[in-house]
Amino acid sequence: MLILSIETSCDETAASVTRDGREVLSNAVYTQIAMHAEYGGVVPELASRKHIEKLCAVTDSALAQAGVQRRDIDAVAVTAAPGLIGALLTGLSFAKGAALSMGVPLVPVHHIKGHIAANYIAFPGLEPPFLCTVVSGGHTLFCDVRDYDDVHILGGTRDDAAGEAFDKVARVLGFPYPGGKELDRLARSADPQKPSLKLPRPGFPEAPLECSFSGLKTAVINLVHTANQKGEDFDRAILARSICEAVTDILISRTRLAAETLGYKKIALAGGVAANSFIREGFTELAAETGAELFLPPPALCGDNAAMIGCAGYYAYLAGTRGDLTQNAFATMSPEERF
Ligand code: KG4
Ligand code: ZN
Repeated sequence: MLILSIETSCDETAASVTRDGREVLSNAVYTQIAMHAEYGGVVPELASRKHIEKLCAVTDSALAQAGVQRRDIDAVAVTAAPGLIGALLTGLSFAKGAALSMGVPLVPVHHIKGHIAANYIAFPGLEPPFLCTVVSGGHTLFCDVRDYDDVHILGGTRDDAAGEAFDKVARVLGFPYPGGKELDRLARSADPQKPSLKLPRPGFPEAPLECSFSGLKTAVINLVHTANQKGEDFDRAILARSICEAVTDILISRTRLAAETLGYKKIALAGGVAANSFIREGFTELAAETGAELFLPPPALCGDNAAMIGCAGYYAYLAGTRGDLTQNAFATMSPEERF
């Protein structure tokens, strides 16, 4: 079964062709990052306009790279939630038109289920159930993936998402949006002989699978402002490494507890922040310690792309999910809900 998939939930205009869910024939991504970087973050209205401008060309290039014709496509999958509402609506409207004109079903897809599905593409033998820690610019969730189309949320952040926290502290350190990747690189250059700084790792004793990143962000901002006001120098690389270590610790402790509670021996990572080298290292150590099998998708599949939507769309299709011309998009929606 060939699926054409579309992803426009934030600042990437993406289209892909996948066969039977897991085989990627093409994965075209046009990133709008340079345009938004000028403003220090994503400007929703500009994102929507850029998606409209790029959708036809990105989709044509996905079809051409896959070497398939429109008449070969069996279904169109599209991200319908969660995300920037205007951005989602551009992709959804485009996908409705494509499905209608090709005479094939439309399958609405949840973006988080897409991130999780990146693991099915990267690891052809992976089957649910497993534990998946999803860390992106908008979400931090510890998910019990019970089946391909059945995700249960165990916990998550009560405030900022991990990626959001990374981008905000990276900005304070002078990196343009989105600074998570640069912060990771700077952290790697830190002197291994020098100790890391003590940064908060807040938790909720009554809800041990919940976490928070806003305290960490505030602590870093205060530290930098105080140093600047006093005219003192500080080691940026050590601060960057301390931030990466704190985020990694927060994620690992929840993931360890969730795996223990569920008795799962398969742990997966997903989302743009899963590209972080400290987090990848931390999860590798956790797996070695606990004897769990670890699934770390390659960085290209961690960030937003349409192949992951095609894969999740395939399993949603098998589960009977269909959209029609009245299908709406939703800025917020839990992955536990169905369309
Ligand atoms: O999943 P994604 O592409 O988009 C959303 O759905 O939000 O995630 C983007 C986020 C951004 O916050 C970006 O800074 C972060 O992933 N990111 C990283 C790294 N690479 C991307 N954060 C930390 N370290 C990295 N290496
Ligand atoms: Zn995403």
